Amino acid sequence: MRILTTGGTGFIGSHTTVELQNAGFDVVIADNLSNSNEQVLDRIEKITGKRPAFIKADLSCPKECKQVFDTYKDIEGVINFAAYKAVGESVEKPIMYYQNNLGIFLNLVENMKNNGVKYFVQSSSCTVYGEPDSLPIKETSPVKKATSPYGHTKQIVEEMLSFITASTDIKAIALRYFNPIGAHESALIGELPNGVPNNLLPFVTQTAAGIRKELKVFGNDYPTPDGTCIRDYIHVVDLAKAHVVAVKRLLENKNKENLEFFNIGTGKGFSVLEIINSFEKTTGVKLPWSFAPRREGDIIQIWADTKYAEEELGWKAQETLDTMTLSSWKWQQALDK
Ligand code: UFG
Repeated sequence: MRILTTGGTGFIGSHTTVELQNAGFDVVIADNLSNSNEQVLDRIEKITGKRPAFIKADLSCPKECKQVFDTYKDIEGVINFAAYKAVGESVEKPIMYYQNNLGIFLNLVENMKNNGVKYFVQSSSCTVYGEPDSLPIKETSPVKKATSPYGHTKQIVEEMLSFITASTDIKAIALRYFNPIGAHESALIGELPNGVPNNLLPFVTQTAAGIRKELKVFGNDYPTPDGTCIRDYIHVVDLAKAHVVAVKRLLENKNKENLEFFNIGTGKGFSVLEIINSFEKTTGVKLPWSFAPRREGDIIQIWADTKYAEEELGWKAQETLDTMTLSSWKWQQALDK
């Protein structure tokens, strides 16, 4: 059974490709390598003993997307990771974000429909909830007005899926990720941000490695116990496994609705300072950091209600915060070598 992972050489895509292959699936990756490289294929082969099929394709181009489906006639399901994902950049370049993220999605579903491919898993985000009214946040909580074009593309894709799954044979699951961090225990794959990282963990590990001078902790006066923002950090391997469960649910027709949404988090919130503490404790490395003003657009706190995913998917995150921060560091060290 073959699964297409779009953006499969990226951070979450590569870990998911590993877990899919470990679960016995054949995978074809389609990626334009805009934020990753082909070496990831060697790494996946090293970990799993199997090299995934690969097509270099810009899926926002209708011709290139069609080519993927023309070449691999045995695709049964699609997991869509291919998207631009930098919140700040999306505010600067909204048209580019809409063209890319929505273009990829539309080309994929069109080719799925034309080729009788029925199962679709979408990489969505807890960003659709905005600032929560109550915590932990449930899947039934309202989707709030997007604060960035990036978040808006996630919302639009979810909405388009509800109409598309209502009138085609396509069945879909949207996984709303919380904050993925960590890396594979082999330290062969991990997060490889272009340029200065926006996200916390890559900034932490690059600072510890001496690539950045100091971590700036954005804001110390939030209404949280230690004044810094709280997020639900989830190990990328746990997140990858959730995709395998989701795709199996669709293939085995266990889905209850044509489009389902699941929160993929741990259910626990940690502050920025707790992340720093965990990192210093597990790695023994002292991290230079200081407080800086709040970052515009940051929500104060969010963590997932994971009950629905546990009950329906039978999936639960297994890793602890300490294994997450330590694996991020091991990956950074492997990169430096
Ligand atoms: N932070 C710092 N210093 C940094 C980077 C981050 O203090 O150098 C803080 C942020 O202010 C925030 C926390 O660390 O409080 C986490 O920030 P990230 O940028 O790692 O993650 P976000 O929660 O802002 O963003 C993530 C995803 C987005 C997604 C969003 C949904 O990266 O794709 O969650 O809330 F849209």
